[in-house]
Amino acid sequence: MAKYRIAWMPGDGIGVDVMDAARIVLDAIALDAEFIHADIGWEFWCTEGEPLPQRTIDTLKTCDCALFAAITSKPKEEAEAELIPELQGQGLTYRSPIVRMRQLFDLYVNLRPCKAFKGNPLNYRDDLNLVVFRENTQGLYAGVEFHPLPAEVREALEAHSSRMAAFHDVPLEDIALSCRIFTRRGCQRIVRRAFEYAQRHGYPTVTLVEKANVIRETSGLMVREARKIAAEYSGIELWETNVDAMAMWLVKNPQNYGVIVSSNMFGDIVSDLAAQLVGGLGFAASGNIGDDFAIFEPTHGSAPKYAGQYKVNPTAMLLAVKLMLDWLGETETAQALEQAIADTIVEGKVRTYDLGGSNTTLEVAEAVAARL
Ligand code: NAI
Ligand code: MG
Repeated sequence: MAKYRIAWMPGDGIGVDVMDAARIVLDAIALDAEFIHADIGWEFWCTEGEPLPQRTIDTLKTCDCALFAAITSKPKEEAEAELIPELQGQGLTYRSPIVRMRQLFDLYVNLRPCKAFKGNPLNYRDDLNLVVFRENTQGLYAGVEFHPLPAEVREALEAHSSRMAAFHDVPLEDIALSCRIFTRRGCQRIVRRAFEYAQRHGYPTVTLVEKANVIRETSGLMVREARKIAAEYSGIELWETNVDAMAMWLVKNPQNYGVIVSSNMFGDIVSDLAAQLVGGLGFAASGNIGDDFAIFEPTHGSAPKYAGQYKVNPTAMLLAVKLMLDWLGETETAQALEQAIADTIVEGKVRTYDLGGSNTTLEVAEAVAARL
């Protein structure tokens, strides 16, 4: 029996291309793992009304972790129109399978390292090594949303907040409400993981990105919990910044930052900004990590116009494999893979179109594999 069971979810579009690249590298390192294909994506929405079928969830439960590439998703009306005729008009609604997997498996950390590899022509600067810890299960993306606003929700809010008076004359159908829900435990665990990481990797600071001067209750809770946790780590300083200012600082002085921690939406935005500083979608990988399960993925989507052409950069996917190896405890192999990726980039001979080259997705993977 293999040491690891890993769910294998290419999904849609270029997801298939980059997963083929991942396989080349995994074969080269001869990871002792069994890869179990699992269905996910647009095809299963169209034919089964569910982009994340129950059989896939069952498979995931038998695995140590998962590799996922990308899925296609489309707006409400289009999604409905592409369902097979038998499934139309049944009130089926599309739910993002990746958001669902994060919630189902309580994958509360979204880990997004953003490292500038030497020789990457897309780097904003060459001295960046940022790591974003984005909370992945609560906050504005928890999905507690209303439109129109139910009358009893308005009544309850008016009874508890004088600020609601400002909206009293607005018709219920003209009000949309998205709830930003923070829990103490949710704040504590994401901040703690960030500090543990900073300690393990020798970062002198953890930067908390919130907006506590305006969003007093939710961001306020996060700041208070972060201060308590920071007090346990004497060698690491907690820097507190507002999200708007952070957008500016990350463009002005990104080299001053290391570990960054934030709530779901702010972390989503800040991590995209950070990713672009080190080459953008072709280089951005993330780990969705819980206490005993994790899913690793490139940040990019299915890029339909390049699907099946084996043109896109597999580096993001290969870095997702590297994150998986780290998480599995295969530290030396992870290090070797990152070095092989770094050496391939700095040599600059084998490059996909985004780096001005004309090599294929698989040629890049083979160049990396040849160094392993
Ligand atoms: P996208 O990330 O798929 O592609 C945007 C553009 O970025 C591409 O056209 C291409 O020019 C470039 N790009 C993306 N990955 C690249 C790579 N590995 N190498 C080089 N260039 C790369 O985003 P888009 O076009 O907005 O969305 C396409 C589909 O993907 C949509 O259905 C969207 O909903 C879905 N999506 C899925 C995500 C996921 O699976 N986690 C994340 C983002 C979008
Ligand atoms: Mg994003």
